Amino acid sequence: MLEIICEDITTLAVDAIVNAANTSLLGGGGVDGAIHAAAGPVLLDFCRTLKGCRTGEAKLTPGFDLPARRIIHTVGPVWQGGERYEARLLEACYRNSFEVALQNEVRSIAFPAISTGVYGFPKDQAAKIAVSAMLEFEDRFERIIACCFSEADAQLYRSVLETLRAKQ
Ligand code: AR6
Repeated sequence: MLEIICEDITTLAVDAIVNAANTSLLGGGGVDGAIHAAAGPVLLDFCRTLKGCRTGEAKLTPGFDLPARRIIHTVGPVWQGGERYEARLLEACYRNSFEVALQNEVRSIAFPAISTGVYGFPKDQAAKIAVSAMLEFEDRFERIIACCFSEADAQLYRSVLETLRAKQ
């Protein structure tokens, strides 16, 4: 089941939440900063052992102090105008996060709107990529949560979902 909510992702008690990280995996601002703050400093110690992550790929850590059991860290593309494979890389973030989840018995998973904050990916294009990937993997999970951080983003996701479902 695919759900669209407006919430702080760090509060969700799911099998895994996805982090919109950077290639260092050593923390930052936005949702990454919020996840590190809520999970506690042991997360940073664990992340140091991972030796970073390439754009579009995904790596797993425990959730530590979070209500979520695990964190899947993925690195979205920085928007550079659209000609630098940004769409394909963002799609890879969702696909690879889902694959890591499936390999680790994750049945419920929540995603933030990867790349749409500091990394500047246009929100409407990013929502289409996110929701398409979620529909593709819908049957393999109990719950897929699109965790938006504003009611405007949640509305955008709902309208994209409606359009894509009509095409199914
Ligand atoms: N819960 C859910 N969504 C959130 C939360 C939260 N607590 N906080 C922010 N968002 P961003 P990016 C939303 O900038 O664009 C970091 O410094 C936010 O409103 O967090 O992928 C990393 O270290 C937006 O919709 O991630 C990287 O350097 C979405 O999360 C860089 O930012 C993504 O915004 C990654 O940039």
